[in-house]
Amino acid sequence: MIANDAEKFKKVISHAKEYGYIFQSSEIYDGLSAVYDYGPYGALLKNNIKEYWWKAMVQMHENIVGLDSAILMHPTTWKASGHVDAFSDPLIDNKDSKKRYRADVLIEEFLAKQDEKIDKEVEKAKKRFENFDETMFRTTNGRVLEIAAKREAVHTRFVKALNDNNLDELKQIIIDCEIVDPISGTRNWTDVRQFNLMFSTSFGAASDSSDVVYLRPETAQGIFVNFLNVQKTTRQKIPFGIAQIGKAFRNEIVARQFIFRMREFEQMEMQFFVRPGEEMNYYNYWKKTRMLWHRALGTDASMLQFHDHDKVAHYANAAVDIEFKFPFGFKELEGIHSRTNFDLSRHTEFSGKKLQYFDPELNENYIPYVVETSIGCDRMFLAMMCNAYDEEGVGEETRVVLRLPAILAPIKVAVLPLIKKDGLPEKAMEIFNTLKFNHQCYYEEKDSIGKRYRRMDAIGTPYCITVDHQTLEDNTVTIRERDSMQQERIAIADVLQIVNAKVDINTVLKQLAD
Ligand code: GAP
Repeated sequence: MIANDAEKFKKVISHAKEYGYIFQSSEIYDGLSAVYDYGPYGALLKNNIKEYWWKAMVQMHENIVGLDSAILMHPTTWKASGHVDAFSDPLIDNKDSKKRYRADVLIEEFLAKQDEKIDKEVEKAKKRFENFDETMFRTTNGRVLEIAAKREAVHTRFVKALNDNNLDELKQIIIDCEIVDPISGTRNWTDVRQFNLMFSTSFGAASDSSDVVYLRPETAQGIFVNFLNVQKTTRQKIPFGIAQIGKAFRNEIVARQFIFRMREFEQMEMQFFVRPGEEMNYYNYWKKTRMLWHRALGTDASMLQFHDHDKVAHYANAAVDIEFKFPFGFKELEGIHSRTNFDLSRHTEFSGKKLQYFDPELNENYIPYVVETSIGCDRMFLAMMCNAYDEEGVGEETRVVLRLPAILAPIKVAVLPLIKKDGLPEKAMEIFNTLKFNHQCYYEEKDSIGKRYRRMDAIGTPYCITVDHQTLEDNTVTIRERDSMQQERIAIADVLQIVNAKVDINTVLKQLAD
């Protein structure tokens, strides 16, 4: 059984490897830090996440179209976007452990610890008093008020330091809060420096500095530079969106927590172009719509929350995260940003090409404003794995089950002959060959049926079809449901229709349209 969140996370990581979901990149050479490969089931799960996102965006909206732009872009793109000058994190080194940290993350962790301290006081008091009034306790208890006041003071300094880009003040906060390096346990810190996160490489045969290109740190810029191409060729009228799924690269200072923070990852981004002045309406619309997308997968409301940014990025006038409750706490899963007309204006300035829209209703030209939704595919993958991983006692044993939403499960249905003889494998293969046109299926005849069911539970397969001796007599099979382990006898003639209905992505997409 799972003792706590830290143990759960360890189990998710080893499960992902053991069952062919995720491997460390170049593992035989001891791996490459924060780069991962997706195994056979991981690749399927990832594709299903992308399909759900793409359909929800492009197929379900008459005014959103897709794009697949290149990773390498003209270097001026990143000058214009501000990434060359401003896409950096404040880093700090501990002189004893020689470890490098993000200064802002150290402070955020300190703030989170203060919240935990308050929660502990509340828990202690809850046990002590009957008829406990939590709100009253939080607003009147001396110890709680003391911690909360200290937290608030640090938070205010922190937000100001971030907004002023004041690196000395960030270091001072770390010193004043007596934050220690978790490895060396010392407070022997260097100054805080800015570190640009873009990877660069040289373009073509000559390698002088004029040939430097960057691996894109976000897919969004491929959308902005193609704004006119897409708008003209698809005859879209504002408001309309451009959606894209693709790789992005960031030389993260501290890459931790498995696939949560990677150096090579995939983003699913959509830029929605709107009339100036209408951006906040669409910002609120996309906040609601994106939360619905997550909830339609069956993720419990308590696992998701909005978090407004303390400091908005250099291009935004409003920003909110959708956070997921990972085993290591609530963390960003998706960002929704009101990006103003910053990007299109800057590309207009740097390229000399007018990235404008003529609005026939207003009879005027303007640079559209943009509302962006941006989610990391890998992070969504991790959220789904953490949400799905479960262990439960079944008789004497522990059953490990991945309760993935059926539409995301890598294998939709396993077809299993009860035993490896008496014509059962042939009959099972017949069913497999009928289902495979519609669904990713799995066939296996080795091991006892119980062991095969457990393996399918661990992979997250929502349905198992079992062919037994009765099948040969009356053309029926059993269908077993992963979560309840309930079995039902159904006619082979109905199998396809029943499985179709159970794993149909449209039932989920319809929830978004209601
Ligand atoms: N175009 C806006 C943009 O890139 P972001 O908040 O930096 O905004 C958007 O990134 C999303 O991309 C995040 O919410 C996260 O899911 C994902 N992401 C960002 N950095 C990542 C990393 N190093 N590893 C994995 N996913 C990452």
